[in-house]
Amino acid sequence: MKFEGITIKDLTPGGVYNGIYILRSKELKKASNNKEFIDLVFLDQTGSVQGKIWDADKTKFEALQVDLLYYVNFQADEWKGNIQLNINKIKLAEASDQDEIYKFVPSSPIKPEVMYDSIFKYAESIENSEIKVLTTEMLQRNKEKLMYYPAAKSLHHAIRSGLLYHILRMLQLAEKLMLVYENVNKDLLFAGVILHDLEKLNELEANNLGFAEYTKEGQLLGHLVMGVRNIDKLGRELGISEEVLLLIEHMIISHHYEAEYGSPKKPMFLEAELLHYIDLIDARVYDYNNAVSNLNTGEFSEPIWSLDKRRVLKHGI
Ligand SMILES: [Fe+2]
Ligand SMILES: [Fe+2]
Repeated sequence: MKFEGITIKDLTPGGVYNGIYILRSKELKKASNNKEFIDLVFLDQTGSVQGKIWDADKTKFEALQVDLLYYVNFQADEWKGNIQLNINKIKLAEASDQDEIYKFVPSSPIKPEVMYDSIFKYAESIENSEIKVLTTEMLQRNKEKLMYYPAAKSLHHAIRSGLLYHILRMLQLAEKLMLVYENVNKDLLFAGVILHDLEKLNELEANNLGFAEYTKEGQLLGHLVMGVRNIDKLGRELGISEEVLLLIEHMIISHHYEAEYGSPKKPMFLEAELLHYIDLIDARVYDYNNAVSNLNTGEFSEPIWSLDKRRVLKHGI
C-alpha cells in the first residue's frame, strides 16, 4: 500500500489529514444558499465518519462510487459533538490498493477459511448419522456465502465473516458447557448452533465486503421461519427421519425465545433452551466488547440499543 492515511478513530478536530477510506454512501443536497453539496459516509476498520464536499455538482456526485476505496485529503471539523470531514480532495484509490479493500472493513479476527474448517470438524464429530449428514451437507452447500456474510445488518457481529465467527464462538461455548452438564445431547446442541442462523444467508443480501440489507423474503418471513423451511426441504431430499427434522426445526423456531423477537414457540427441551442462552451470551459479549472498543479507561459508552439503552463502562481493572 503506497498511500499512508490516518485511521478514523485517531482523528482529532482541527487537524488536516490524508486518509484512505471506503465510501459507504453519498447524497447530493442543497444548502440554504442554494448551492449543492455532497454528504458522504466513510468507513475503515476502526469506525465510520461523515464528510462533506462543498461546491459540488451532479457530475462530481455521479463520479463517486460507493463501496470503493478513496484517498481523501480533508480537515477534521467538529459538528454537533461528532467529527466531520471537510473534504479538500478526493480521488479513487489505485487498483493495487483497491485489491486490498478487505483490510478496510471491520472483519472477524479469525480468517474465514480457518473458522469454516473448525466448524466443519464440530459437525463431523456429531455421532447420529442423520443429524451429521444434515449439518455437514448444509455447511457445504452454503460455504461460499458463509465466507463473508455478517450475522446482522447493524446489530451483533455486523462485520465481514461475522456469521462464521458467531457460530464458532457458540460451538466453543457449547463444548465447555457440556463439561459441566453431562446429560446434554451433543449432537442436537452442535447441530442447533450450526444451523440456527444459517438462513441469515438469505434473510440478508450482503456484498463481499460484508455490508448487508434485508431481502424481501427476510423482511416478510425472517431467518427462523426460513430456516425451518430450508431444513424441511433438505431433510426430505436427504431422507432424514421426521423425528430428527422436528427436533432441529423446534430448536430453530424457538431460539429467539420471545414472540416479539420472532419465536412462535419457547424451547421445549433442554438443548433448545441452552441454544437460546448460548446465542444470547455470544451476542452480549460481542456488544459489550464493541461498546468499549473505542473508549478510554473510566469512560461510559453511548446508550447501547441492544443492551436496553444501558451505557457501558470501560473499567480499568
Ligand atoms: Fe437468530
Ligand atoms: Fe444467533
